[in-house]
Amino acid sequence: MSDEATISDLLHENRTFPPPPDVAREANVSGDAFAAADADRLGFWAQAAERLSWETRWERVLDWDPPFAHWFPGGRLNVAYNCVDRHVEVGHGDRVALRWEGEPGDARTLTYLGLRNEVCQAANALLELGVRAGDRVAIYLPMIPEMMVAMLACARIGAPHTVVFGGFSAEALRTRIRDCDAHVVITADGGYRRGAASALKANVDAAVRDCPDVRHVVVVRRTGQEIAWNTELDVWWHDLVDRQSSEHTPDFFESGHPLYILYTSGTTGKPKGILHTTGGYLTYVAWTHWAVFDLKPETDIYWCSADVGWVTGHSYIVYGPLANGATSVMYEGTPDTPHQGRWWELVEKYRVSILYTAPTAIRTAMKWGADIPRRFDLSSLRVLGTVGEPINPEAWMWYREHIGGQRCPIVDTWWQTETGGILITPLPGVHTTKPGSAIRPLPGISAEIYNDDGHLLPRKDAAGYLVLTEPWPGMMRTIWGDDERYRETYWSRFPGVYFAGDGAKWDTDGDIWLLGRVDDVMNVSGHRISTIEVESALVSHPGVAEAAVVGSPDPTTGQAIVAFVIPRGRPETDGQTFARELREHVTREIGPIAKPKQLLVVAELPKTRSGKIMRRLLRDVASNRELGDVTTLTDSSVMDLIKEKLPNAPRED
Ligand code: PRX
Repeated sequence: MSDEATISDLLHENRTFPPPPDVAREANVSGDAFAAADADRLGFWAQAAERLSWETRWERVLDWDPPFAHWFPGGRLNVAYNCVDRHVEVGHGDRVALRWEGEPGDARTLTYLGLRNEVCQAANALLELGVRAGDRVAIYLPMIPEMMVAMLACARIGAPHTVVFGGFSAEALRTRIRDCDAHVVITADGGYRRGAASALKANVDAAVRDCPDVRHVVVVRRTGQEIAWNTELDVWWHDLVDRQSSEHTPDFFESGHPLYILYTSGTTGKPKGILHTTGGYLTYVAWTHWAVFDLKPETDIYWCSADVGWVTGHSYIVYGPLANGATSVMYEGTPDTPHQGRWWELVEKYRVSILYTAPTAIRTAMKWGADIPRRFDLSSLRVLGTVGEPINPEAWMWYREHIGGQRCPIVDTWWQTETGGILITPLPGVHTTKPGSAIRPLPGISAEIYNDDGHLLPRKDAAGYLVLTEPWPGMMRTIWGDDERYRETYWSRFPGVYFAGDGAKWDTDGDIWLLGRVDDVMNVSGHRISTIEVESALVSHPGVAEAAVVGSPDPTTGQAIVAFVIPRGRPETDGQTFARELREHVTREIGPIAKPKQLLVVAELPKTRSGKIMRRLLRDVASNRELGDVTTLTDSSVMDLIKEKLPNAPRED
């Protein structure tokens, strides 16, 4: 969000909302937690780890060999046992773990006992396929219960999974399978989105053609659509899993054992495999889920609307809620299918009490109008959350009024794939909230803001770069196979501290406001996409000589992708057709989320004398702002032409 108008809006925001007294009175976490964590940070996290079940207790809380953290070394535990079995063992086998609803309206309920049985069967199935502790398994599934079962089955046998979002292309899937050398892929024939069956298996077929080490593709039948079948590789989930025993005795893994790899965009064309491990991660997601949402597992119905393919789904659909014995709702489809009130209908149907979603979804609901949620009974809601991008005060207020009925505290949670869990957020029973502010670092989290020179800024009325100065249990272990890139990306900008890549500000009360990315990473609908990744996709098209990509402010998606393209020779097609072809090409290379909304074919791009593309100027035009300094350009007329042509460039909404 580098839009200056939005930033100045934020800075004039002065509405405040104290925690509702009844929430404060009953809250899981009170203000005392801050003092406790300040007095003994490691002791505080050790206490959080006590909430889990460990087969062997840790020897130390933390081995810190900067920038590599090993939390609870010597401790041994099993993630799936913690998420499922232990709840059954203490008598909660009948408690509902998951209320799942498919887009067409089919539904399934899984109790903790039912989930335990399926996870054991799936774990036995993976063992039968030869998967062993340490082997990687790729998961490419729609939002169906098997997603949760597959992830937990991997965790149960110590095989790190890499979930690839179902909206990513075959090409994106291929590079991820290869980067982590997965030998097994779990997928489905397809899933339901926007009233139609989308295809997943076809993408897997295309991806594994170039992955000679993939030995098995396990296919869930979801839609029943026609699919190609490769008898060498493919096996139906129901043929393989249903005949397995529902008993499986878990092994216990050392706390630093890899749990999963999740790829995310960085500032290069190659996504980074973020590696999370076992003991620290599970401690952190369980504690934060319980604290931030004030979860009461016996009575709350919790719904996080993210896709499991993103970190929000890993931490706050699967691992955090299940470790806490929560009852969750999972929904397969889109919010407007078959009608624009579908989400609110689900809140009413399942009596959802905690809802966690993204600002984009709130802005979309705003666009459709408050009349739609008004038709449903939303009185079960008691805590609301947002994540993924800065929320503009207007959307925050709308969420409070039209969804939360003016009574629900809103937690605006800042975190990243790399951080594993929420780091900055208000606590519902503790903090006075402000529309648009993520308020404070959680207890035990040391967030600071540095200036450009790496000086620590006072916690009052100061803006700069957000850093974390102490390790925390949910933090990533490294980038898969690339310790050096891990060090370089996060720990070199300001030596000794973790650089998040976000701008932030302390206001005069000492509350934090996130100001968006300070690097070449865009945030479209809360999804992270690097400008360079989209540029590389564009230049891989034979008709493109050069490309520059920037993010521009968008009222619904936060940012929209704008691409400037120099064609190779004269394009054979007209501008519109060429633009459409390039969009399709990007969809094939990365996925529909990376498709430029606007694409302008240009003869020249603004460059410095040393040949560097000045994205800053392109960002200015794409954002309708005054152009910054153009004196370093080789040819300043380039920008005049771009300025003139951009408003008429083909746009796709
Ligand atoms: O720029 C920040 C933004 O999303 C980035 C992390 O993206 P990702 O790893 O995909 O994880 C998204 C879900 C945790 C951050 O660097 N971001 C995330 N939450 C917020 C946010 N920006 C402002 N406010 C937030 N609450």
